[in-house]
Amino acid sequence: MLLTGASRGIGRALARKLAGLGAKLILAARSERELVELGAELSAQGAEFLLKPADVGDRNAVKGLVEAGGERFGRLDVLVNNAGVGLRARIPEIRPDDFGTAWAVNVLGPLLLIQAVWPWFERQGGGLIINICSLGALQPAPNIGGYSATKAALAALGAAARLELAPFGVRVCNVFPGSAATSFRAHALGETYPENEPRLSRVSPELVAERILVGAARGERDIFITWPDRALATLSRLAPALADRLVVRAFRRVQGR
Ligand SMILES: NC(=O)c1ccc[n+]([C@@H]2O[C@H](COP(=O)([O-])OP(=O)(O)OC[C@H]3O[C@@H](n4cnc5c(N)ncnc54)[C@H](OP(=O)(O)O)[C@@H]3O)[C@@H](O)[C@H]2O)c1
Repeated sequence: MLLTGASRGIGRALARKLAGLGAKLILAARSERELVELGAELSAQGAEFLLKPADVGDRNAVKGLVEAGGERFGRLDVLVNNAGVGLRARIPEIRPDDFGTAWAVNVLGPLLLIQAVWPWFERQGGGLIINICSLGALQPAPNIGGYSATKAALAALGAAARLELAPFGVRVCNVFPGSAATSFRAHALGETYPENEPRLSRVSPELVAERILVGAARGERDIFITWPDRALATLSRLAPALADRLVVRAFRRVQGR
């Protein structure tokens, strides 16, 4: 099982849970130090894993990551596209370089990874792809349009891969978290997040990881973490103007307007 963005947050929580379930893990992120820390913890649990520092925006690194993982374990059954970066800016102020970076990490990297694991899945007669998207891919909110665009693109890639690859036994889950208590906002590109930016829900990365694993095991196509997240996604599909009004009102309230 190949998991990107394993060094902290949701990825780290997923790595811990998967190790507890006995999964053989290929764990990737850029920070070698944080991966080694995680590795020490997993070793103490007797887990089997390979740590592989890699930037998912780098084509050669992605190729090397999948090759090393395949060599180590002899098969590849699951890809979790979790590595991601936020971008906070109003549409008129998004810096093209920031958008390019977010696109490379949130869209191009996952695409390259799907392409790199595909020959393994094809040979083995199936596999599972889990894409960590965002609720923002389904319902717009102020200041995260650039980020939401990358996550909507990832969700669309996942949906297309699902229908193209289902005949080969490949399943695809798209995950749409609302807000999780990680350092995601602190690492985001663009402007600093204000403390009081509205959140529909704020859950622990452990809860997100648990819901992802339960949803994937149940064969859910689209995985939501909390019922308000699912409710907003449904409202956005059925009554988009009303959903927009509610979101705008929530932002006005915290800004005191
Ligand atoms: N937290 C939320 O509220 C929230 C909500 C919706 C969706 N999500 C999505 O959930 C996923 C995990 O986010 P998180 O909350 O756990 O954020 P986080 O704590 O910032 O973790 C992000 C992870 O991605 C890795 N990463 C970032 N850029 C990378 C790159 N270029 N190459 C390889 N790895 C990279 C980071 O490791 P290194 O820095 O060491 O590379 C880190 O392990 C992301 O896709 C995010 O968009 C999060």
